[in-house]
Amino acid sequence: MSFGENLETLIPAEEIQARVAQIAKDIRRDVGDAPILLLCVLKGAFPFLADLAKNMDGDVLFDFIQVSSWAGGRESTGSVRIKKDHDFDIKGMHVVLVEDIVDSGLTLTYLRELLATRQPASLRVAALLSKPDAREHNVPVEYIGFEIENRFVVGYGLDDGERFRNLPYVAAVIPTSEPV
Ligand code: IMP
Repeated sequence: MSFGENLETLIPAEEIQARVAQIAKDIRRDVGDAPILLLCVLKGAFPFLADLAKNMDGDVLFDFIQVSSWAGGRESTGSVRIKKDHDFDIKGMHVVLVEDIVDSGLTLTYLRELLATRQPASLRVAALLSKPDAREHNVPVEYIGFEIENRFVVGYGLDDGERFRNLPYVAAVIPTSEPV
């Protein structure tokens, strides 16, 4: 016997795909013809990166960075540390930081400041989701897929203790006290 969660779909897969395709076109329009470095914040932004890239014309490069601020739980620890840095020298490159979700804004504030010191030609942020009511750090986000309520969500890369990242849709987790 185990206790589990019910999932309530908030954003269906088709809506995500349509919005991501539009964001890819917006980014290409704004950057122009130059190569774009999509810098994925692991692990949650990985599906978003893949779908963005498939919808983007011209030269597109990938790199990955991993930070930890939530330490596997449902609450931020309040501090950010780099677990894996990117491989490319981003100086002079047009960088788009690809994030799964902006919650308090702590992670993004830290990453924007860090990456700016590395002198990219331009730095933009694309976040699939944003929870405006949870924001504690005022940080610019150039491209937002969807604004959502301040609820814990999973799917399309987002996890709850590493589960649910594979879902093609975004769902809210509803805890149940009943055995499942
Ligand atoms: P922030 O630093 O508070 O903005 O949190 C950003 C990070 O927290 C995201 O990149 C996610 O890894 C994680 N996070 C925030 N909200 C959620 C959620 O609702 N579900 C899963 N992970 C979340």
